[in-house]
Amino acid sequence: MENKVIDESVQGSAVMLKTETSFVSDSKKLYVESYGCQMNFSDSEVVASIMNANGYATTRNVDEADVVLINTCSIRENAELRVRNRLTEFKSKKAKKPDLVIGILGCMAERLKKSLLEEEQLVDLVAGPDAYRDLPNLVEEVGTGQKAVNVLLSRDETYADISPVRLDQGGISAFVTIMRGCDNMCSFCVVPFTRGRERSRDPETIVEECKVLFEQGYREVTLLGQNVDSYRWNLSSKGEIKDPNRPTVNFAQLMEKVALVSPALRIRFSTSHPKDMTDDVLEMMAKYENICSYIHLPVQSGSTSVLERMNRSYTREWYLDRINAIRRIVPDCAISTDIITGFCGETEEEHTDTLTIMDEVAFDFAYMFKYSERPKTLAERRFDDDVPEEIKTRRLNEIIAKQLQHSLTSNKNQIGQVQKILIEGNSKRSEAHLSGRNSQNAVVVFPKEHYQKGDYVFVKIEDCTSATLMGKVVESI
Ligand code: SAH
Ligand code: SF4
Ligand code: F3S
Repeated sequence: MENKVIDESVQGSAVMLKTETSFVSDSKKLYVESYGCQMNFSDSEVVASIMNANGYATTRNVDEADVVLINTCSIRENAELRVRNRLTEFKSKKAKKPDLVIGILGCMAERLKKSLLEEEQLVDLVAGPDAYRDLPNLVEEVGTGQKAVNVLLSRDETYADISPVRLDQGGISAFVTIMRGCDNMCSFCVVPFTRGRERSRDPETIVEECKVLFEQGYREVTLLGQNVDSYRWNLSSKGEIKDPNRPTVNFAQLMEKVALVSPALRIRFSTSHPKDMTDDVLEMMAKYENICSYIHLPVQSGSTSVLERMNRSYTREWYLDRINAIRRIVPDCAISTDIITGFCGETEEEHTDTLTIMDEVAFDFAYMFKYSERPKTLAERRFDDDVPEEIKTRRLNEIIAKQLQHSLTSNKNQIGQVQKILIEGNSKRSEAHLSGRNSQNAVVVFPKEHYQKGDYVFVKIEDCTSATLMGKVVESI
């Protein structure tokens, strides 16, 4: 996710796909655009790999594409509206170029299935998150004049053997998917319906992918899953060993395996769930310097009664106990969160509970959203979406204002510190500056001098805004 305090985490950034040199210039061209969470961006790299292996070179220019795929998100209504507008634009391109194949992938594809083809006639092809191996066949079917759909969810597809085509060649930081799906049933959430059952990926393939990334010059991997704490290999959900002849691996052990790839490879992970985050994960973070001191731990609400309606399986006290464990075991850890405001039946008092938990924890960063009712979810079936829009907006503004204060204080507290920064590239605002992140995931900007992306440098923090730290490179700590 990007570092912005907004009511919409969905990023409409087109994925920049480089043309592969290994293909002759008359090969067919694929253009992919991704919306939604990091998992979708990661999946688009799997899609590019599958299509490359079937003769499609990737392009960043939609006008020269033979196939346009849009990888979509359903998390909030706005996310879907944005994609619909984009599909209408693509449809007008097809009017001028009838052979153009337009396909929808990801969570909207899974949620809406055939209706996008049949009722709305917006696309030629629909492929859900577990159907990407079938894409070359689906594109071929469209070529023979049919409409193609595959929205089957799988219990075991992890794309473990596919080495993703990195869409930011020469990049520093990569996403590595370690598990797919989600078995939690948070009442507001559409993900269990769009992504299916939870399954973990073979740890050896994860470690191998990280090794290859390191050899290619990457210096940071983010291990991705909807609930990384429930990563388990060869273990049932009850903790029983499935195959006695194979090793078992839990999330803490997986982190250690990846941390051992190289001390120069930083490890991040997302997302942790408060009900499952165990001390052994925190202890592993404390043990390895290259596992970053940063945890994204979505709280959603500070009110136990709201958390119960959300079916989050923890209380305010449980959440605060997990925060204490982080502070005790990884004292320099930054903590960010997700907050939903205006959930079904949320009273003024329950909203105040969210404001007070924010004060108690003092999150370094937060993604904040207005509740958006999603079809088929438990909340849609059980509760009324009864908090009026203007109250949702007012409450959201209150939590945003509070978070801005906390983010500013958190950044101010770092002034004077010397921090180890991994350089990611030029600063967005100035060619003369570089930008990178500290272990705590804060963006740090400093004068370029002779340093380059991929280098680790020590930076003395001299100034800040609520979003960025500014400083100068120093010799060492
Ligand atoms: N698996 C992750 C995050 C999934 S979605 C987790 O459990 O934390 C990212 C965030 O979107 C959620 O944490 C939640 O804050 C928000 N979100 C999910 N469904 C939503 C909805 N219906 N309305 C508003 N925000 C929602
Ligand atoms: Fe959605 Fe909850 Fe699963 Fe996260 S843990 S993806 S919020 S159901
Ligand atoms: Fe969106 Fe699906 Fe991710 S709904 S947040 S793209 S898992």
